[in-house]
Amino acid sequence: MAGLIPQQFIDELLNRVDILEVIDSRVKLRKAGKNYSGLCPFHNEKSPSFSVQPDKQFYHCFGCGVGGNALGFLMAYENIDFPDAVEELARLAGVEVPREETKATKASKSRYDTTLELLAKVNKWYVQQLKLHPARERAVSYLKKRGITGEIARDFNLGYAPPGWENVMGEFGSTPEAVKLLEEAGLVIGRDKNTSNNRHSHYDRFRDRIIYPIRDVRGRVIGFGGRVLGDEKPKYLNSPETQVFRKGEELYGLYEAKQQRRQFERYLLVEGYMDVIALAQNSIYNSVATLGTATSEKHLRTLFKQTSEIVFCFDGDNAGREAAWRALQVALPLMEDGRSLRFLFLPDGQDPDTHVRTIGRQAFEAQIAQATRLADFLFSTLSSKLDMDSPEGKAQLASAAKPLLQKLPEGVFSKLMLDELGRLTGVSRYDLLASPPANLTNSPAYIEKPNTLSRNSLPQQSKRNSRPQTISVAMRMVNLLIRQPSILREVELPEDFQQYQTRDLLLLLKVIEIARSSPDASPHELMGRLYSTDYSEQLTQVLSRELITPKEGFAHEFKELLTGLTQQQQQLKLKAATLQKLHTHFQSEPTNELPPLDVPPLEQ
Ligand code: UTP
Ligand code: MN
Repeated sequence: MAGLIPQQFIDELLNRVDILEVIDSRVKLRKAGKNYSGLCPFHNEKSPSFSVQPDKQFYHCFGCGVGGNALGFLMAYENIDFPDAVEELARLAGVEVPREETKATKASKSRYDTTLELLAKVNKWYVQQLKLHPARERAVSYLKKRGITGEIARDFNLGYAPPGWENVMGEFGSTPEAVKLLEEAGLVIGRDKNTSNNRHSHYDRFRDRIIYPIRDVRGRVIGFGGRVLGDEKPKYLNSPETQVFRKGEELYGLYEAKQQRRQFERYLLVEGYMDVIALAQNSIYNSVATLGTATSEKHLRTLFKQTSEIVFCFDGDNAGREAAWRALQVALPLMEDGRSLRFLFLPDGQDPDTHVRTIGRQAFEAQIAQATRLADFLFSTLSSKLDMDSPEGKAQLASAAKPLLQKLPEGVFSKLMLDELGRLTGVSRYDLLASPPANLTNSPAYIEKPNTLSRNSLPQQSKRNSRPQTISVAMRMVNLLIRQPSILREVELPEDFQQYQTRDLLLLLKVIEIARSSPDASPHELMGRLYSTDYSEQLTQVLSRELITPKEGFAHEFKELLTGLTQQQQQLKLKAATLQKLHTHFQSEPTNELPPLDVPPLEQ
């Protein structure tokens, strides 16, 4: 059982992480005024009613009524529970989730931590095998043959999984629980069911392979890659996705690069483990590799946290160019001013490893510095099959380029790209912007289709009328209180408040309870706390309402509403008492609905 996550940490995390970053990497958003909007990922829709409000750190869908803070979004979108959402958010912020140690947690660590510990131990053992195992010679000479020195092998913590089916099993799988953990960590694989109960129930995943530990930014081993020493297939085996290892997000070599403790002007994004290692062997320390997956937005976000320029190194062949084109599309929405992206296409059949060994470090670095600019790659790819001397060709280029350029965030770069398109087509930026939207069906096949998929597998929340509704007094009080919990300092609450409880009143009482305990909390801190309660949907509805009352008026309005609510409660009490007297033989139940109060509905 994991320890409790301290509330203060969750508050700080919500303050620190931008909800926009969380959602933007999962839902395509466009800026609309001070907010952002897009197609709701929680229901099927054609026009965007999903809105992200960065100033409130809050999202809301006017179509299906869902909403909440960054944690709530992650829970719903990733279909994970609260602690996992906190973990995910902490990953984004690059911080570790502290746990309050209770008696129970002292006795049993979280599965997550135990897995990491196991991976670290097994890694150490693999490294040892490269030094000590009787069969090590073949591994060592393989590395030597590839020009890897002991120093680089040490920096990258390279190891060796010796031949044999049950080495790791024998070393680390002494109990059924230990075997279970090994299996969860992706280190051993279960044999078929008939034998599952004896001690040969599982066998080692990595056998007779060079081991490349994959470390996260903080240097913790989260998985392994293993290469055969010869030409057998598959060339590489990798750890499967586990609780601690997400292939599509991690960058091999980032921790090792950061160990150089310098600010690199740029990072190189390459494809293979051996590319990263060979480059380091040639004193080029600023390269990282994806783990056999396509470049993802998460990869690029991670890298752009380290540097402002990324250079993709791809094969010069068709497959390489296609991969580069996909990477470009992923990158476009991230191209804020100040960031830069280049493409280095290597000669056919070469990868960075062989290329740097052929031409040497200096020539390689010179090529990197001269690599193709994003703009050149984009426009030359699009116009490669067009007759750019004809008006038709120019028009086709414009209609193919526009949807791509629209992916760029607003800024100088996006304007310059439009200017460039203007230069190529002879049409001014203003005319390009004014012309009717590009006809996507006429675009070349490599232009992405607009994303019409939505994640409707998630449980749908109740449809809410998009027409403005009036809301109860209690909810209006909630709205004020969340925005300014310190109101409670100035207000005295009546004792018998709790008598006639509607859903809305229960929420108000909950908010009061939380606001009392932390009057200085920010709205999204309060949201964070309330999220784990049953009230999230109600809250969403309240918070999505704009308040026209200026902040100075909050306390006053709250008091007025409170007076109204108190009177309402007294009337109900009176009514109940009268009813009781008149019909003692009836079991009169407290009403569920409050009668409407004589206050004007809240302005929308
Ligand atoms: P490469 O074949 O380009 O890798 O595959 P490499 O590092 O250059 O390999 P060698 O040692 O020089 O021959 C690129 C990446 O794709 C993944 C690995 O992450 C590899 O580094 N891959 C490749 C696999 O996962 N499995 C495979 O069988 C092959
Ligand atoms: Mn290679």
